[in-house]
Amino acid sequence: MVLVSGSGSNLQALLDAVAEQGESYGARVVAVGADRTSAGGLERAERAGVPTFVCRVRDHAHRAAWDRALTEATAAYAPDLVISAGFMKIVGEEFLARFGGRIVNTHPALLPSFPGAHGVRDALAYGAKVTGCTVHFVDDGVDTGPVIAQRAVEVLEEDYADEGAALHERIKEVERGLLVDVVGLLARYGYSIEGRKVRLGHE
Ligand code: GAR
Repeated sequence: MVLVSGSGSNLQALLDAVAEQGESYGARVVAVGADRTSAGGLERAERAGVPTFVCRVRDHAHRAAWDRALTEATAAYAPDLVISAGFMKIVGEEFLARFGGRIVNTHPALLPSFPGAHGVRDALAYGAKVTGCTVHFVDDGVDTGPVIAQRAVEVLEEDYADEGAALHERIKEVERGLLVDVVGLLARYGYSIEGRKVRLGHE
């Protein structure tokens, strides 16, 4: 199950991996959820014949009610893993209680540097020479859960000219490959989380 807010290019990479590799990939996308109707990822899912749902904060009386609705909508598909692929909301207590240890997020920076909604912009503002992407499990902090894998991307002088748009595109190219690799490995081999360490494979 994949959660999106934006264009959904990471979702597309997962859909492509499933289409190209079939059963041998080890995972399939059972549903796509979004927090906004304009999320491009919804159309990508529909084109791939994957069911979708939208769960907007503004349609709920308060944040906990939204979190409960998101939990129920997700649980209806009984996913083994929940992939947050450009989902720009922090999930709440109920979602974490239900899916904790099974939620994977992808972030456009090398955590623990530059967490939050502006990972690319913040790395540039800091003057970092190397940034990248991180795929990690979600815990109750913001981008603080155990790291599964990271890849580095060099910051170029020209990246300052467009506020990080080109840098984000280069990060996303690397990120899509990393996310596809990680999800396939977790699905095929299983995993355990011991403290901050993620181990592949069943004991
Ligand atoms: C990705 O770069 C993802 O890491 C980022 O949003 C982009 C979504 O792209 N997520 C965050 O910044 C979360 N803090 P996409 O919609 O094309 O997959």
